[in-house]
Amino acid sequence: MYILGLETSCDETSLAIYHSERGLLAHNIYSQIALHHPYGGVVPERASRDHVQKILPLLHETLASAEITLQQIDGIAYTKGPGLVGALLVGATLGRTLAFALGIPAVGVHHLEGHLLAAQLEVESPEFPFLGLLVSGGHTELIAASEFGRYQTIGETLDDAVGEAFDKTAKLLGLPYPGGAALAKLAEQGNPQRFTFPKPLLQKANLDFSFSGLKTFARNTLQTEGCDMQTKADIAYAFQHAVVATLSKKCERALLQTQLKTLVIAGGVGANTALRQQLAKLCAALDVKLYFPRPLFCTDNGAMIAYAGWLRLRQGAQENLAIKVIPRWSLDDLQS
Ligand code: KG4
Ligand code: ZN
Repeated sequence: MYILGLETSCDETSLAIYHSERGLLAHNIYSQIALHHPYGGVVPERASRDHVQKILPLLHETLASAEITLQQIDGIAYTKGPGLVGALLVGATLGRTLAFALGIPAVGVHHLEGHLLAAQLEVESPEFPFLGLLVSGGHTELIAASEFGRYQTIGETLDDAVGEAFDKTAKLLGLPYPGGAALAKLAEQGNPQRFTFPKPLLQKANLDFSFSGLKTFARNTLQTEGCDMQTKADIAYAFQHAVVATLSKKCERALLQTQLKTLVIAGGVGANTALRQQLAKLCAALDVKLYFPRPLFCTDNGAMIAYAGWLRLRQGAQENLAIKVIPRWSLDDLQS
């Protein structure tokens, strides 16, 4: 079966073709970063309009790279939520209508399920049950995944998502949006001894996170210590160190609490090298298997939607003819 995957939940238009036996055949991402750059964040209306402009040319490109025609597609998967309503509607409208025109099934995919299953696109692929650490621009969640379609959120952020905290702190340091990767790069020049940032909620026995205070700490440190390049790098180091230590400690607690022996990382911040290294150490110490998607599939992508969609389509799932998106949607409410 050839499955077309469409991802348009935020600021990436991404399409992929997944084949049930041959795996991923084609994958394209058009990022809107340059479009939103002057505004320092995603402008929803501009995002939707840009998806409208880019999605059809990307569809033709993706079919060409997979060397198939539209008529060969057997099923279509699109991101149904959560995300920006206008942006979601672009992928959902194209996906649902195209499937109707071709007389094939369409399935709406939960964006976070896509992220959680992205590591299964790799050769070394995790099996259920596992603990998922979902760290992106919009989400920071610890998820106990007992089987395909059954997820329980056991910890989450009480304020900013971790990627959002990276981006806001990067902005304070004068780095362009989205600044997560640039902040990580700057942290490489930082002096580990100079600043110690607080590790939020670490003393609390629960599995929740809080990252908004770190950004304030970074702002205050900048104000008192000056903003020369070395000070900025030292702040970047201390910020990243506090985030990584907090994420790692909460993962350790969650693994011990759930007794799960597999940890799967998902979401854009999963591309962070310091986080990858720290979690590798933690998992080696706890005798837990650790899985990451390749960095390209940590951030938003159509491949994870095509793959998750295929798993649902083969179970017989399909949308009715209504074009429906769900901008706010918890993974816990997903039905397998
Ligand atoms: O999963 P994603 O592409 O989009 C959402 O669904 O939110 O994640 C994007 C987030 C941004 O906040 C970006 O700054 C962050 O992931 N990010 C990073 C790195 N690469 C991307 N954060 C820290 N270190 C990185 N290397
Ligand atoms: Zn995402």
